[in-house]
Amino acid sequence: MEKFIVKGGRRLTGEVTISGAKNAAVALLPAVILSDEPCVLENVPNISDVNISLRILKEMGAEVTMLGKDSYRIDPTRIDKFCVPYETARKMRASYYFLGALLGKFNKARVSMPGGCPLGDRPIDQHLKAFSALGAEYTLSQGMIDLRADKLCGTQIFLDVVSVGATMNAILAAVKAEGLTIIENAAREPHVVDLANFLNSMGANIMGAGTDVIKIRGVNKLYGTNYAVIPDQIEAGTFMIAAAATKGDVLIKNVTPKHLESITKKLEKIGVNIEQYDDSIRVYVDGPLVKTSVKTTPHPGFPTDMQPQIATLLTLAEGTSIVTEGVWEQRFRYVDELRRMGADISVDGKVAVIEGTGKLMGAPVKACDLRAGAALIIAGLAANGITEIEDIFHIERGYDCMEGKLRALGADIEKVNIPDDAAQNNQKKNAV
Ligand code: UD1
Repeated sequence: MEKFIVKGGRRLTGEVTISGAKNAAVALLPAVILSDEPCVLENVPNISDVNISLRILKEMGAEVTMLGKDSYRIDPTRIDKFCVPYETARKMRASYYFLGALLGKFNKARVSMPGGCPLGDRPIDQHLKAFSALGAEYTLSQGMIDLRADKLCGTQIFLDVVSVGATMNAILAAVKAEGLTIIENAAREPHVVDLANFLNSMGANIMGAGTDVIKIRGVNKLYGTNYAVIPDQIEAGTFMIAAAATKGDVLIKNVTPKHLESITKKLEKIGVNIEQYDDSIRVYVDGPLVKTSVKTTPHPGFPTDMQPQIATLLTLAEGTSIVTEGVWEQRFRYVDELRRMGADISVDGKVAVIEGTGKLMGAPVKACDLRAGAALIIAGLAANGITEIEDIFHIERGYDCMEGKLRALGADIEKVNIPDDAAQNNQKKNAV
């Protein structure tokens, strides 16, 4: 079992470079299937969700060649399998993008129901609604989703909830459909725009991405392209908060400041200084941190994927802060772990009340999901003493070499591998 051991109390200083966006990469990789020629993707993050996506592509018959540390040439022309089995799909929520991409290219797809972080009920009814509207029929059996269409035809799709996944899947399935597709109440996240830009660079005709109405005129053929994934908004936000929590001074490079606006505004309210440049952002603290209220909403609101991290920062701020989760049902599971570190947080449904104590203490804790894991690292960096974080595989799904990047900023963090027997003995000792 691998763990992070964090010795807290060091200010983060220096420069860090942000990797490509996880939530864009996991959609762009399946989108390559739609091309009739090889594509090159750059700025691809080295994270386990990307490795799983690449493995799925290879298992389907695509030829994947690594060109550099973050770039790949993917030739989808020999794909002859249209199925993503349970063993791979269960590890990654975003395996659902193979549904839209395979359907859009081959008019058929068979993908296991997706896994991913346990954030409460995670239905895919809106994805299926979009596929049906385009002319596909679906069946669900043995945990597999089967999609089939004689032909896909442009149509009007109204999403009942603003869903990133359903919006991107609707785009993937509609890009080669005959005629015009209009997606209403579409998600506006930067990764939705990135998917549209990528497909347009392949010859697609997608307009309005980044607004809530996306129009797609179907094309017959998509061509090879060379494209760089956008920087990861959430990784950047996580480093901004890590810098703030340690009262550090960090220049965060390879970011799109516009994508970070909602995070920047909130941090400024808390007392964090932020300087924005073209593609970097400096974060430093030279005064007290103060309470605020945060509510997560779809983009351009404050991202739900930054909620555990900002809540952690607020435990270090003066006063009572309120954090309201507006997207997921169960996104406060990490609170019990923060309490073990001395945080004073009470949760009622989707609202957390945080009494800022100004300090945290090191403790053994467990990452219960990806962003919760990032929050525990931030807590460990700011805490007095040693924090041991278990279940770090969650963190490695979405952060490219987080411990290496933090170490380069002066953090005392290391990854240790404890043999499973020793880990079990420890667990037994702790349970007694
Ligand atoms: C994506 C992100 C995830 C982020 C989330 C919200 C990826 C791989 N993951 O997840 O990191 O937390 O956006 O920004 O990009 N919903 C339905 N029916 C559906 C689909 C969604 O009711 O068919 C609901 C969900 O239960 C949730 C809300 O819509 O309450 C938002 O979900 P959605 O935007 O689809 O999240 P994901 O795309 O799964």
